[in-house]
Amino acid sequence: MKGLILAGGKGTRLYPSTNVISKQLLPIFDKPMIYYPIATLMLGGIRDIVIISTPTDIPNYQKLLGDGKQWGLSFEYCVQEKPEGIAQAFIITEALIKNEKVCLILGDNLFYGKLDFFRNAIKNLASATIFAYEVENPQSYGVVVLDKDKKPIDIIEKPKVFVSKWAIPGLYLFDERVSEFAKRLQPSSRGELEITDLQKMYLAFGELQVEIIGRGIAWLDTGTPSNLIDAALFIRAIEQRQGRKIACLEEIALNLGYITKSDFIRFVEQMPDSDYKRYCIKVYEEHSE
Ligand code: TTP
Repeated sequence: MKGLILAGGKGTRLYPSTNVISKQLLPIFDKPMIYYPIATLMLGGIRDIVIISTPTDIPNYQKLLGDGKQWGLSFEYCVQEKPEGIAQAFIITEALIKNEKVCLILGDNLFYGKLDFFRNAIKNLASATIFAYEVENPQSYGVVVLDKDKKPIDIIEKPKVFVSKWAIPGLYLFDERVSEFAKRLQPSSRGELEITDLQKMYLAFGELQVEIIGRGIAWLDTGTPSNLIDAALFIRAIEQRQGRKIACLEEIALNLGYITKSDFIRFVEQMPDSDYKRYCIKVYEEHSE
């Protein structure tokens, strides 16, 4: 399965912080935001990843993340010339997706908790799977309307009147037909190829699965200044309590066997003196091969 991380967009709600830097390069406490979606994909067993961003930001992502080998991953980069919608990701990466199934994660979505729901959804993917998460403010999200058996009936982008409490997080699984279907979409009134319209196509074929993410998982998005600080404080609270970092990519790679212990320490030795480096050394010392 191919992973796509969509890390472009305008980031207007974070203006002026996003005036010269991409939103997903801003820190969430002690590491860049994009580390969190990368960690999610890694924990789902996805190692071939395409990073999509704006023409001006792609060089920064390349500088930050390289080719991914340091984490046992493979990164490719793809430019989205203009933020013309989330579903456009599948059109601009068509040649890279080839005939694989795809997982798209939005670069500003953060998941914390046991990711079995994600691994199971990947294992059981038939055509398309979206997730549903209960939120207090469904009007800010694409939502899915479920019947009494929790089967999807309708999908609505940012509903003005209440129709469902089930927001759709920015994590989606699709089969090999996704680029073909995305090319059939028409831009919405806001000029974007909407991910909800793509989901509706699968729904119309009776091929959309919805998996509920329980409240034991934290799903945070980081689009506004308040969301950003809330996410940072959440990460800091857990990291400080446990003395364990969330989304330390080196640690995940080592634990999942994506890299060897000697690859790990070779990379860590190059890091500047920092709390992050000291944490990686602690991981190294604890790890038994
Ligand atoms: P949004 O949060 O909807 O948009 P944005 O990041 O541009 O922010 P704002 O609304 O404040 O202007 O986007 C969700 C995620 O998807 C985010 O990580 C950016 C990314 N994105 C793209 O990369 N390209 C796009 O065309 C769109 C619509 C979003």
